[in-house]
Amino acid sequence: MAQVAVSPSITDEFAGRFAGSLAMHQRANQVIPGGITHDGRYLKPFPPYIARADGAYKWDVDGNKLIDYVIGHGSLILGHNDPEITAAVRDQVALGTHLGAGHEGEVRWAEAIARVIPSAEKVKFTASGTESTLLAMRVARSYTGRTTILKFEAHFHGWQDYALKGNKPPFDSDAIPGIPRETLGTVDAIPANDAAAVEARLARGDIAALILEPSGASWGTVPLDDGFLAQVRNVTAAAGVVLIFDEVITGFRWAPGGAQERFGVMPDLTTMAKIVAGGLPGGGVAGTAEVMEVLEFKDDRGWNATKKVRHQGTFNANPLAATAGTICVTKCANPSVQATCDRLAGQLRSGVNATFVRRGLPGFAWGESSGFHVAAGVSATNQTGGDLRAPAGFSPTELVKAADTALNTRLHLGLMLEGVELFHGGGFLSIRHTEDDVDQTIAAFDRVLGRLDEEGAFS
Ligand SMILES: Cc1ncc(COP(=O)(O)O)c(C=O)c1O
Repeated sequence: MAQVAVSPSITDEFAGRFAGSLAMHQRANQVIPGGITHDGRYLKPFPPYIARADGAYKWDVDGNKLIDYVIGHGSLILGHNDPEITAAVRDQVALGTHLGAGHEGEVRWAEAIARVIPSAEKVKFTASGTESTLLAMRVARSYTGRTTILKFEAHFHGWQDYALKGNKPPFDSDAIPGIPRETLGTVDAIPANDAAAVEARLARGDIAALILEPSGASWGTVPLDDGFLAQVRNVTAAAGVVLIFDEVITGFRWAPGGAQERFGVMPDLTTMAKIVAGGLPGGGVAGTAEVMEVLEFKDDRGWNATKKVRHQGTFNANPLAATAGTICVTKCANPSVQATCDRLAGQLRSGVNATFVRRGLPGFAWGESSGFHVAAGVSATNQTGGDLRAPAGFSPTELVKAADTALNTRLHLGLMLEGVELFHGGGFLSIRHTEDDVDQTIAAFDRVLGRLDEEGAFS
């Protein structure tokens, strides 16, 4: 009897083509819990292990080339190995990787940030975004003398104990493994886009700060309504509550001066990481001199004992990060950087949406600035095949979960077989991505969606 050739499933083909990553994952599992070092890299059946990167591309341990939309978790807006940053960091390595003292590099870095971030009068450095949100909350608590931090459901502010409440559905859960209930009791998470509810919550008088992602949760997965930022600025100012914009992703990406410049709304404190450190580990908090004053030393024992916020950190303003960060922030001060990335992201979102529509398959891409998200298997009622900022017809919980399905995992694996790597069902553009990369990516989506359809994944 004639044999019918059955083509392998996407998952089987992935296991074969990425066999080196499978072997590395099995080895990693022996010494690293889960085999990964960031929960966001969890992928079934296993994640890729990358050997090197350049420009907009990465090569895995099997030599597979990937157009990289992870791009350093969003930190590499200049792409991998920006020549100026690479050369300057090499030079700095020879001058010392840790000077154990203040150095000109940190002063230049702070000056560069203060030049572009509109609300930044003073800057303090940390080693990550998580540390930045921790420090900003502490500053706000000392400045106001109040305890509770208000945040919005689904917004992500790093993995520290005060930041995780309300990050994942069910948003009202007050049990997070390893975090004391007492700690979670000092944070309140409420839905975004309801300024009256924010005002009512502030009226109770216990809120030190409102922290939010000015793009909406996870670089726009759950977009904010137009005008909402200005409304929360007004109600926080009226209540004497510190407004913290977490610009770890939007900083230097939404505009040279971040989302605050793009939307013309000024926070009291800004948390930064990723792009600010030019692809090296680092972060910081910027703010008005008045709020940041609680970080100052004074010849006043009372002040130092009751108001002065303590802040240490072996790797704060590390010279390598300061070198990379100063060059990166300075290059990003040219708005053509953001304009280029925004344009490419818009083309990508539109092209993917047109593909879904042309194939008659449920799914859509959405996003703002140079970020994008993709959800296959569900329909937005305002999907027209063009660019889409805010998909209609979903609750925040549905939007957060839209890309977190077995179908979307298969889409992710299928795209890797086509040489494209996404980040959390979406990703970011850099100035090293080209129109050709975007066209190739749209063509890859087309082929993988067709293949998934043939595999019955949409039925
Ligand atoms: C908005 C936001 N805040 C804070 C963080 C935490 O930054 P880090 O991973 O550097 O600790 C992230 C990380 O992705 C983030 O996206």
